[in-house]
Amino acid sequence: MRRNGVSVLEVGAGPAPALFAISDFYDDLRAWLTSIEGAPAISPVAVPHSIDRGAAWSSLLHEVSEMLMMRDPTHSVSAVPFRITYNDLAGFSVASQYQDAIREKAWMIENEFERAGEDISSEWARKFAMEEGVNVPSRYDIIVLCNFLTNTSMPTNFEAELKDLAQSLTPGGLLIVLGATRGSYPRIYGRLHEIVASTRLRLVDGLDDPIQAHEDTWTQNIVGAHLRASVAFASAAEPEQFAHVAGKLKKYAPGVVDPFVKLRFPEFRALVWKNEWESRRRG
Ligand SMILES: C[S@@+](CC[C@H](N)C(=O)[O-])C[C@H]1O[C@@H](n2cnc3c(N)ncnc32)[C@H](O)[C@@H]1O
Repeated sequence: MRRNGVSVLEVGAGPAPALFAISDFYDDLRAWLTSIEGAPAISPVAVPHSIDRGAAWSSLLHEVSEMLMMRDPTHSVSAVPFRITYNDLAGFSVASQYQDAIREKAWMIENEFERAGEDISSEWARKFAMEEGVNVPSRYDIIVLCNFLTNTSMPTNFEAELKDLAQSLTPGGLLIVLGATRGSYPRIYGRLHEIVASTRLRLVDGLDDPIQAHEDTWTQNIVGAHLRASVAFASAAEPEQFAHVAGKLKKYAPGVVDPFVKLRFPEFRALVWKNEWESRRRG
């Protein structure tokens, strides 16, 4: 829980399911807390940041965020991601983004002083910039990778970036990795454990068992109806393109294309690490 708003970064976000889910979670938590006398007031998600290299995701996020705002005007504008924030995990570093934002703000402050005919040193401009703050956090409260590490070479290819993410959490912050359970996933998770082990985060206990997606019938019905409607829409909108995937869908997820076959949702795993170390100063 954070009094000043929660900052979240979703990596390989695509349509950003984790950002929307976390934003909903905090809204529900806030609503619940208002019904309890003496409960602390907490803020909604204040920074919903994302990384994805897919060019089309920003316009989808914009549309979904706008729809949500129209449906529920009480939803905080800052809590939903109107666009993808960063374009590539390769070479990405939370600290560098923060330093760039501070540098840019300091430069604007220096310019403003100059326009007013006053002098300010770069050091003071930087101090002012840090005091005023920027909209880029130096660390995040929650960093989520959701169906992002999908093959065994990815953890190794992104080893430096993953270490940086693991070292970019606020005290008490969480690194959450969600993904499938079988195939190459145990090897992917094994490599991830090795990488994160060198960063002092503590693995949260009690999450060893696979988790069933959409366990209750109510959620199954809602998600199922959306899935079937979207697939039906796609097949009608682009029949030729759809023909390329129709066979695979029938084989691996028959319930998605045939309303008379029961929809089955997969199991997934959640790996969660927590930063229990005190704040490390960053220059
Ligand atoms: C399997 S999708 C998962 C999307 C979303 N997290 C979900 O669970 O629905 C993986 C996403 O990672 C993105 N991606 C792949 N390589 C990337 C990279 N180097 N930097 C940022 N995003 C990347 C892809 O564009 C894609 O949207």
